[in-house]
Amino acid sequence: MRYLIRAAAVGAVILATFGGAVAADVIAERKEVMKGNGGAMKAIKAAVEGGKTADAVAPAEKIAASLKTFPSLFPKGSGEGDTDAMPAIWTDWAEFEKAAANTSAAAEKLAMIAKGGDASATGDALKALGGTCGACHKPFRKPKT
Ligand code: HEC
Repeated sequence: MRYLIRAAAVGAVILATFGGAVAADVIAERKEVMKGNGGAMKAIKAAVEGGKTADAVAPAEKIAASLKTFPSLFPKGSGEGDTDAMPAIWTDWAEFEKAAANTSAAAEKLAMIAKGGDASATGDALKALGGTCGACHKPFRKPKT
């Protein structure tokens, strides 16, 4: 899968003289970032369930950092093609940025709580973090068919 995405990115560079190719590149990149966040959420869940909250710190920090630059992967015109991004991203840009900042803040908070070692409180923070992911997906990502 990773190879396919790489290949797609290389293809996009080769086709860069054609319209839309740059968008395909950035779409592949933001999907990859989001996939990483999905994996990080699983790692946090496993850390909470195993009572090893220290293991939740790094993935939470990864999520926090990724959402800080995430909106930059949505240049105008990148709503077409193989993407689940909804047009609302560009019409409600401020809300989109706010949703990214909320997730970043929730992930930072989780990292801080996880450092304290309280598995139950970290579990609550995970629920709150998951809620912020959904709060962006609902208005801004096409529902899976
Ligand atoms: C600021 C908005 C926003 C936030 C916050 C957000 N997402 Fe996303 N997410 C998106 C958008 C938009 C897409 C669709 C991207 C595309 O197809 O171009 C997406 C796609 C995804 C995908 C599918 C990627 C793929 O392979 O197509 C996963 C998994 C995902 N998000 C997980 C998460 C998790 C976990 C969180 C919370 C930690 C999160 N997202 C927070 C906007 C957001």
